[in-house]
Amino acid sequence: MQTIKYTFQPHGDDRGQLIALEEFKDIPFRIKRVYYMYDTIENVVRGHHAHKSLEQILICIHGSCKIKLDDGTETKVVPLEKPYEGLYIANNIWREMYDFSPDAVLMVLASEIYDESDYIRDYDEFLEFVRSGENKA
Ligand code: TYD
Repeated sequence: MQTIKYTFQPHGDDRGQLIALEEFKDIPFRIKRVYYMYDTIENVVRGHHAHKSLEQILICIHGSCKIKLDDGTETKVVPLEKPYEGLYIANNIWREMYDFSPDAVLMVLASEIYDESDYIRDYDEFLEFVRSGENKA
């Protein structure tokens, strides 16, 4: 599955920690969009979609949450619990975000601007898409 868990290098000193992320250096794509989720209601599951071409890095910059990933063949769960951890998710991967702590702030760095036509929001359609090879056309 095309996902990578990054550990970013904090610039720590006696004042605290700072993390800097630069496109093509720390992040393997041009960052065209940043968005973040907070005040997520207990037991809510977000996501439930895949992207045809979008790449993303998810960083839980405060609190914690879990990400369930599914490429149509295998599934895995990645906990995000530290502000220096980043989860790269390639295109064509179904994701669900859940188990948000009440203080969780989940920030997403994205390779493209928002485009609803890049979403696959139906799971059966996603399976058909990844298994048909349509994604490689
Ligand atoms: P949604 O796709 O439901 O979030 P998630 O799948 O992560 O749970 O997005 C919630 C709303 O925010 C929806 O109305 C679309 C809007 N939105 C934007 O306008 N721009 C964005 O970059 C994103 C991610 C969402």
